[in-house]
Parts: sequence; structure tokens; C-alpha cells
Amino acid sequence: MSKNSELRSVIETTAVVIGSFVAAVILIVLLTKDYSSAEPAVEKVVETSNTEPVAQVVMDTAESDSSDSSGAAIDAKKIVAANCAMCHEGGLMGAPKIGSEDQWAPRIAQGKDTLISHAINGIRQMPARGGNAKLSDEEVAAAVIDMANASGGNL
Ligand code: HEC
Repeated sequence: MSKNSELRSVIETTAVVIGSFVAAVILIVLLTKDYSSAEPAVEKVVETSNTEPVAQVVMDTAESDSSDSSGAAIDAKKIVAANCAMCHEGGLMGAPKIGSEDQWAPRIAQGKDTLISHAINGIRQMPARGGNAKLSDEEVAAAVIDMANASGGNL
């Protein structure tokens, strides 16, 4: 009898263990189903976040395009600082000083085009293009205009 009840409790225990296993498996399947149904959404998020950098790259290209054109847009102050200031800041060799209206007035009076052509081609101690042959006519002209306008001119 006691063996019988032992056997019964073993069967009961086995049933409980199997039952809880089945329950656990069902739970796991349900949870896994939840996750697998959530996965496509995650993939979509990844896909859209993949699309965004592409859009950013396009924007970057647009930005670099515009910075290219602003690179083409001449920065007169930089040109002057890099090529002209060494003489025109302190009045080296009789160069008209930037900011000196007295020294610039007679030069500006020659006219904008003359002034620019003197800067491009050089005049007396003033070297052609300030000594930088790489400067374009436009860059030299922009530098002339910037210097003259900083010295009482209105070119
Ligand atoms: C090596 C020194 C030196 C550098 C660099 C230099 N200049 Fe001059 N510049 C002179 C001197 C000196 C004069 C005066 C020339 C004269 O009238 O005898 C002068 C005169 C000028 C004049 C007046 C020309 C005129 O017709 O009266 C302009 C405009 C000018 N420079 C522009 C520039 C520009 C723009 C740059 C830079 C791109 C530059 N210079 C760089 C020395 C320099």
C-alpha cells in the first residue's frame, strides 16, 4: 500500500513537473511570439534610421556644394590678411596704410579700375597681385575694394 501511494505521489509529481514544463513551454512560445512579432517593427525602425543618414548625406552634399560656391565667393578680408597686410598694414616701402584716408584718397581718386589694374599688374614697389601669382583677378580686385573701403573709399 505504501508502495502504491509512493508510486501515486511519483506520478503526481511527474504530472506536476510535466504540467509546469508544458505551461512554461506555452509561456515561452507566447513570449517568443510576442518578440518575433515585435521584431519587424524593430527592423523597420532600423530601416528608417538607415534612411535618415542617407538623407543627411544628401544634405551634407548640398552643404558642401554651397560651401564650394561660398569658397568661390571671395573672402576679401582673408586675402588681404594673407597677401596684402604685410605691407599695407604698416605702410612698408611706402605702401598706403589700410585705414589711412589721407594716403588712400589720391589713389582712390584714380578710379576703381585703375586701382585694381595697378594691384593686378603691380606699380613701382607694389608687386603684381601682392606677390602671389595664384590670386585671381577677382581676388585681387576684392582685396583692393576691401582695403580701399576700409580707408575711406566707397568702391
Ligand atoms: C611687398 C609689399 C606689398 C604687398 C605684399 C602688397 N602691396 Fe600693394 N602696394 C605696395 C606699395 C609699396 C605700394 C605703393 C606703390 C606706389 O605707389 O609707389 C602699393 C600700392 C598699392 C595700391 C595702390 C595702387 C595705386 O594705383 O595707387 C593698391 C590698390 C594695392 N597696393 C593693393 C594691394 C593688394 C590688393 C595687395 C594684396 C593682394 C597688395 N597691394 C600687396 C606694397 C605692397
